[in-house]
Amino acid sequence: MSDLSTLFQPYTFRSGVQVRNRLALAPMTTISADPDDNVSDAELDYVARRALGVGLAITAVAYVTPGGKGFPGQIGAEHDGRLDSLRALAARIKAGGARAVLQIFHAGHNAPPELVGGDVTSASDVPSPQPGRGHVPVRALSDEEIRAIIRDFGDATRRAIEAGFDGVEIHGANGYLIQQFVSAHSNRRSDAWGGTPDKRLAFPMAVIEEVERARAQATTPFLIGYRFSPEEPHEQGLTMHDTFALLAALRERHLDYVHVSLQDYAGSPRRGGDPERSRLQQIAEALGDTPLIGVGNIWTADDAARAQALGATFVALGRALLLEPEWVQKVQAGQTADLRATFTPADREALTLPAPMWGMLTGAMLKDRLTPEPTRR
Ligand SMILES: Cc1cc2nc3c(=O)[nH]c(=O)nc-3n(C[C@H](O)[C@H](O)[C@H](O)COP(=O)(O)O)c2cc1C
Repeated sequence: MSDLSTLFQPYTFRSGVQVRNRLALAPMTTISADPDDNVSDAELDYVARRALGVGLAITAVAYVTPGGKGFPGQIGAEHDGRLDSLRALAARIKAGGARAVLQIFHAGHNAPPELVGGDVTSASDVPSPQPGRGHVPVRALSDEEIRAIIRDFGDATRRAIEAGFDGVEIHGANGYLIQQFVSAHSNRRSDAWGGTPDKRLAFPMAVIEEVERARAQATTPFLIGYRFSPEEPHEQGLTMHDTFALLAALRERHLDYVHVSLQDYAGSPRRGGDPERSRLQQIAEALGDTPLIGVGNIWTADDAARAQALGATFVALGRALLLEPEWVQKVQAGQTADLRATFTPADREALTLPAPMWGMLTGAMLKDRLTPEPTRR
């Protein structure tokens, strides 16, 4: 049995935001917004229940500009008319005792054309690698458009502050626009925004700077986190070598945290790092004293403790908190044997999961955990 005590230690971020423990709700898209892209009651209930245990609750990703919408049923943070929707989300999270962090992005070439008026954009005209997307034309953003999107990230941050959030997480992971600028596969530019490894970092760094500028207006502590994916499978795609350059640049920004997006917290690098040691460990070392959130296939208390032992300051739980909304409370109470690890087709309401998200989980993302029989509670 691992030592779980550090999981439950409070923590104060550089910005002054304090959290009660080292556990985070991973950002998870519920595809459950109202038809006008405001947060729905189902999503509020989903997140409120999980916010009763974790220290940090990171929301589903919100788009910062209409051209950056990535999914049907995605929540928006792209204009001031969203303030009431965002206020409700922050309030329900904070009522549970967690700190509320709004994740913000632009989908870039992963935006479904029908959601962005057919104008799918990215760093360059490289199609999305998502299955079935090879034929969708992509337009390279102009310099002026890039600068406007950077300002959109700042404006979304201002709204998060006004709405009562405790911070924002800049979504630079999972192949969306920010990562598209960092990757030589998707960024073929030769202007200020690409052409060399340094210039491929110009966009994320400008976004961070703009978000910091917006944060300067906050009157209470407000954190800034940044999420990234360490590797891409395609040739010319990101390797750990690129990631170490990104981490060196992020380290200079003195962010509140950096959040790695991993399928498996214990996995090792494919390219550009030491294949004998976990990515998590190597990323933690490269970040020095910048706090790291680790994630990926963490189901048990022992998994969480092992992720911390590899260097994660915080542990984010995604699917484990979908299946076991009271994961944190049970582990803290020593009831680790009671953690639910499978579910049945009848469990949606008991687990407070929005119906559209449920479809996604039973269809693919949690299919291997679905059992036909009622599960033990
Ligand atoms: C239903 C679902 C939606 C997700 N949506 C997002 C998202 O909006 N933003 C993001 O950065 N990651 C998203 N992810 C990835 C998770 O944050 C997490 O990194 C991943 O699920 C691995 O953690 P886990 O094994 O604990 O589930 C999503 C994952 C799931 C299962």
